[in-house]
Amino acid sequence: MRKVLVTGGAGFIGSHTVVELAAAGYEPVIVDDLRNSKERALDGIAAIIGRRATFHRVDCNDGEAMEQVFAEEGPFEGVIHFAAYKAVGESVQQPLMYYANNVGSLIVLLRLMRRHKLGRIVFSSSCTVYGQPEVLPVNESAPDRLASSPYGFTKMVCEQLLRDMAHADPTMAVVLLRYFNPIGAHPSAAIGELPLGVPNNLVPFITQTAAGLRKSLTVFGDDYDTPDGSCIRDYIHVVDLAQAHVKALQWLGTQEAPVSDVFNLGTGRGSSVLEVVKAFIAGTGVDLPYTIGPRRAGDVEAVYADASKAREVLGWEAKLDLHRALADAWRWQERLK
Ligand code: NAD
Ligand code: WQD
Repeated sequence: MRKVLVTGGAGFIGSHTVVELAAAGYEPVIVDDLRNSKERALDGIAAIIGRRATFHRVDCNDGEAMEQVFAEEGPFEGVIHFAAYKAVGESVQQPLMYYANNVGSLIVLLRLMRRHKLGRIVFSSSCTVYGQPEVLPVNESAPDRLASSPYGFTKMVCEQLLRDMAHADPTMAVVLLRYFNPIGAHPSAAIGELPLGVPNNLVPFITQTAAGLRKSLTVFGDDYDTPDGSCIRDYIHVVDLAQAHVKALQWLGTQEAPVSDVFNLGTGRGSSVLEVVKAFIAGTGVDLPYTIGPRRAGDVEAVYADASKAREVLGWEAKLDLHRALADAWRWQERLK
């Protein structure tokens, strides 16, 4: 079996990727200390793949504990590094915590990879590195903007560190994946997104409001320069996103090191906040109270992906549409009751 180390594998995107790795014949080894996830994700993975995935409850910043994982479980064919903090607003309040975890854990991992002669890594980046692009859909050669949050800067720093490593170390093989807005859940509803506290992101807020856990959704601004005045994003089903990680690993297996490349992962289709709200109501038939509120600080007006590079090079494209993603997110929310 070809083992793959998956840091943050109990999280939203990580758990779905573990399922797709298992389906593709890999043996995922999860490292997660469950600081932002729950044991039930591991139960859900087991329910889908029919066995318990190997799991180490370890902080990725703990070099000794990580060394132990490498010694016990290695050699690995590659690493997929999801473990990070991701709340934009929180990163403004607690920048040190964000840099320490997001950049620090990558440094620990790269040192271990070097010691164990492992070069292949797939890294979770974000469309946040583009800020508000001048040209839409945005492709990978668009310039990075100054990020609007410390979170965004951690992704830019990690990307640059990985590019620098690939430049300096002939054994490195790096894929940077820039996710747009991941939503939805596994169609089995055995795994999904588990936001802790009040969700920051649109779709978990919608499903929790529809479930009666929140009073009303606030649409952050309807005075943008878009057809209906609300912001536009590229919402991508998490199962599609997970499958891209398998394609990225397979592609790395065909490349001569050193290599480093970057891919957008989106549907290529932009949807406004109000379109998402209306699609949710139409698709589920559930009432969703909402009001229009002021703009949220730091939001860009519109961003959606040109994902043609991932299609041409990795042979990957998103197959599931917004309606399907919202239906799956809702089925998962109902399961959480
Ligand atoms: P998530 O919070 O659900 O998952 C992250 C996982 O990493 C959690 O299970 C958490 O417990 C774990 N973790 C964090 N720090 C750790 C540490 N030091 N040691 C061990 N485990 C640790 O988040 P997600 O949505 O699955 O995001 C995964 C990755 O994708 C992150 O790097 C995130 O920045 C990136 N990303 C997410 C989105 C999004 O909207 N969800 C968009 C773009 C990029
Ligand atoms: C989507 C749209 C909001 C909540 C963030 C990060 C980005 C990436 C994905 C990690 C926006 C509107 C939201 C609400 C609303 N994450 N909204 N009412 O901000 O596009 O991206 O997550 O890398 O880096 O910035 O996602 O889901 O928060 O918002 O009207 O209660 O929904 O204004 O237009 P965002 P989001």
